[in-house]
Amino acid sequence: MIIYYKKEEINTVVEELKSQQLTIGFVPTMGALHEGHLSLVKKGLQQNDIIVVSIFVNPTQFDNKEDLEKYPRTLDRDVNLLKTVSDDIIVYAPTVEDVYGKNITSSKFKFNGLEFEMEGKFREGHFDGVGTIVKRLFEIVKPNNAYFGEKDYQQLRIIQTLVKNNNISVKVIGCNIFRANDGLAMSSRNERLKPEYRKAAPFIYKTLKTAKQKFGTKSANKVTEWVKNQFEKHDLLKLEYFTIADIQTLKTVTRKSNKKQYRAFIAVYADDIRLIDNIALN
Ligand code: PAJ
Repeated sequence: MIIYYKKEEINTVVEELKSQQLTIGFVPTMGALHEGHLSLVKKGLQQNDIIVVSIFVNPTQFDNKEDLEKYPRTLDRDVNLLKTVSDDIIVYAPTVEDVYGKNITSSKFKFNGLEFEMEGKFREGHFDGVGTIVKRLFEIVKPNNAYFGEKDYQQLRIIQTLVKNNNISVKVIGCNIFRANDGLAMSSRNERLKPEYRKAAPFIYKTLKTAKQKFGTKSANKVTEWVKNQFEKHDLLKLEYFTIADIQTLKTVTRKSNKKQYRAFIAVYADDIRLIDNIALN
């Protein structure tokens, strides 16, 4: 396990590895690693000669200062967790200054309209921040393949669009959502849930699974109404949004077509903790 803190160092190393025709897989993360992240790393290890994991809490993607400050920073623990998967992982854990210099701002991107849907409506500037950091990390790490979780499905689609629109030669690979035994999608935020909320949270995935069943015979509108109703009746969990969208455009479906693929997307507040999840419907 080697940890680099400076972009010049890791850049030199990956250039050298690439000159030996070795393939580089890359898993960008913000740390506070859990089994969800590790599942991406494992897939990357299988498909590449070398795997690089970045651990960097990116300030420009937070719309809320307090959220940024509270984000867990647990580098030692993260490195130990990565060691349980393999000793041959390269970690890039830069400072904000190393990545941004003195100018901590994001570029403006157009993601073919994907940025205006779902999370884009509730998190101002978030995807410009994600686009800025991922583009920069791709320039530094120069991976052949990069791994992103379907947990953040809109982010995955946005990175695919970033790569396409900017002719970046990285293959973006989507990875299944890794869940706890009770169905809750793994997230670093789960740790912060009070016990009663942690106990209630699997209701999110349970509802998504029933919504999927209902989507077989009912309209998207009817299913959406049903889901909203389930959460209105729930004592602890507050629904922020639920939407059934076309996976290409991420726009809410009005009329179903057999030729299109759909997913249901959800954001829920459990106390002051915001949880997101999604499920493929067809
Ligand atoms: P972070 O939230 O740390 O997530 C890093 C990667 O792990 C993302 O691709 C995310 O989708 C994936 N991931 C998280 N939980 C998962 C789960 N339960 N199952 C499968 N994959 C999961 O996403 C970010 O960081 C940042 O926005 C980043 C891309 C690193 C840019 O700063």
